Amino acid sequence: MKKLEGRVAVVTGAASGIGRGIAVEFAREGADIVVADLVSLDEAAAVMSEIAEAGTRGVFIRTDVSDEASVRALAQRAIEEFGRVDILVNNAGIFTESLLEDISVEDWDRVLNTNLRGTFLCTRMLIGQMLERGDGRIINIASQLGQIGGTSVPHYVASKAGIIGLTKALAREVAGRGVLVNAIAPGPIETPLLDRETEEWRSGKLAELPIKRFGRVDEVTPTAVLLASADGSYYVGQTLGPNGGDVML
Ligand code: NAI
Repeated sequence: MKKLEGRVAVVTGAASGIGRGIAVEFAREGADIVVADLVSLDEAAAVMSEIAEAGTRGVFIRTDVSDEASVRALAQRAIEEFGRVDILVNNAGIFTESLLEDISVEDWDRVLNTNLRGTFLCTRMLIGQMLERGDGRIINIASQLGQIGGTSVPHYVASKAGIIGLTKALAREVAGRGVLVNAIAPGPIETPLLDRETEEWRSGKLAELPIKRFGRVDEVTPTAVLLASADGSYYVGQTLGPNGGDVML
């Protein structure tokens, strides 16, 4: 029995890494998928064919999650295509390294706008139809760095801690109306985002990680399936941590 049969999910940043893994796993569990990403359709071809192989319907909608008009268009088009959106995964995110004393205002804004404002905008544009039906799941991809901090990433940490706070606040607002909101705060996972880290950062992180290895995307996707499916019906405002022991709460 598939866990997301007949459901419709929007996954942002689904052309790569964790978002791609979640989109494909949701499709394998029976969901139709909207892939919302900044990249071109060509660059999203791999995830679109994996969704097709899984046997459900995938639609690519080029989206900049930090841009209000773009997210409004995403929501409209997703509803036109599928009639409703049951699950929203706010996954699109960017990461840059800089000490606070060196960070440019532009870089601060770019990271906050993509990670935190993007999560707000997508939620704002899609939650209305979930509340009308009294049914929906919102999964926000935070980061373990939003829980414990990290050196040279103050903007990223602020954005991810903001996502955890937003998750709790919104979860309290809407759980009684049938919409469950939770977050996932992965530890370091092998994706193109982690490839962009310096070797120094990677070796330092490996040394301090209790599990002594970086995670794989398929070690995060089961948590997303849990939170999106009937199995996750009593999770409200939680931040789940597939993180190799980087954070222990
Ligand atoms: P990735 O770089 O492989 O994928 C990110 C995707 O988001 C890309 O397809 C990119 O085109 C898309 N994207 C970027 N800006 C966008 C925008 N403005 N609008 C729409 N799409 C946009 O990164 P990865 O590792 O898969 O990260 C996914 C999420 O997981 C991010 O929110 C990241 O912060 C979070 N995360 C990643 C960790 C890791 O170690 N890889 C650890 C903890 C959290």
